[in-house]
Formats: sequence, C-alpha cells, structure tokens
Amino acid sequence: MIFSKVTDLIGNTPVIQLPLTQADSRLYIKVEKNNPGGSMKDRMARNMIVAALKSGRIQPGGTIVESSSGNTGIGLALASIEFGLKFIAVVDHHAAQDKISIMRALGSEIRYVKGDYGENEVAVIERQRMAAEIASEISGAVFMNQSDNAANAGGYADLVSEIVHQIGRVDAWVGCIGTGGSITGIAHGLKIHITSQEQEHQKGIRLV
Ligand SMILES: Cc1ncc(COP(=O)(O)O)c(C=O)c1O
Repeated sequence: MIFSKVTDLIGNTPVIQLPLTQADSRLYIKVEKNNPGGSMKDRMARNMIVAALKSGRIQPGGTIVESSSGNTGIGLALASIEFGLKFIAVVDHHAAQDKISIMRALGSEIRYVKGDYGENEVAVIERQRMAAEIASEISGAVFMNQSDNAANAGGYADLVSEIVHQIGRVDAWVGCIGTGGSITGIAHGLKIHITSQEQEHQKGIRLV
C-alpha cells in the first residue's frame, strides 16, 4: 500500500508469539514500537487531536499544549504537523534526551517545568498546571489534558480490533499504567468483544 501521510502508518502493528513451555497457554507481544512515533501513544495522540478539531475545541493553526516527557509528546508532535497545529510540550528537567530531541526535530516547542525537582521526582501535577497556564495565555491554544480526556482511552479502539483479528480469543492483557487511558480503552474494547463472543457461544448452545 502507498500512504500519503505519516499518521496513516499508525496501527496495524505486528504480533510476536513467545515460546512457552505450557502447551495450553499462548503469550503474545503486540509490537507497538512499530508505530511511526515509536509507541502506542501515537494512537491516542491522533485521536485526541481529531476529537478536539471535530468538536471545535481547536482550529487549524491553533496550538496544543500538553504535559509529557516522551511518547505522548512525540505522538502529538507528529499529528500536529499533519493537522496544521503547533505543539508545546511541558517536560521534566530529567526527561529522556532522545524523546526531547525527536519532539524538537518535529518542530515542537519544549518548556521545562519550573521548580526544584530531583532526578527521581516526576513533577506531573506542576507540569499539568503549567501546561494549562501556558494554554490559557495563548490565543487559540488548548491544554490537551490526556489525564482527563475521553479521547485518550477512545484512541485504542483500532488496537483492540487488531488484537482480535490477529489473535482471536484474549484471556488477559498486560500493560502499564500512566494516565490509565490505554488500559481503560483496551479493557473496554476487549470486554465488548468477549461479551459478544459469549453471546454467540450461548446462541450456538441453544441451537444445538
Ligand atoms: C509506551 C507506553 N505505554 C504505556 C504507557 C501508559 O499509558 P497510559 O497513560 O495510557 O496509562 C505509557 C506512558 O505512560 C507509555 O509511554
């Protein structure tokens, strides 16, 4: 397939099956690093931007401000380019340099959180406060607020369809939690799928 936009490369990531000794169990890894920004966060970043544009919360030419030291920021930076938006990332002082360099290379502005935070401290609350403040000071800017944005969890619907298509039955999903958006969206989608699978199964039993 030939694509015209980098964000068209989001999703359809491959699955690797790991060897297991128990014959009745199967373990898979969904290789989300294959998304163009290098993580699953590309999915929710694009979805939050699309939702904000659809609702009129932001207009083309506007500015997105978000607190992120890494993957969400890269996803927002990527999608911002394609949707004609500017992106300002509010990051910790000790944020990974490679993530910051990628955001800068994608044209994002980087603002470091104010305050005296140690290497082992993540200043999430202050970063969010600062992002909201910056957005309120710029005309046409919005604080994306991934921690309180339904389009975060909503951005994982395709991932669920992919898993169901690639694997079929899923008994357990293992993920990590930051905002809780991905686990919420994936759990919600899998629950709908499992419920409909069970209903089909019940129908089958009745027919027999
Ligand atoms: C690669 C990756 N996976 C998962 C998470 C956690 O995601 P969520 O914010 O949806 O809980 C993060 C960020 O915290 C991440 O960067």
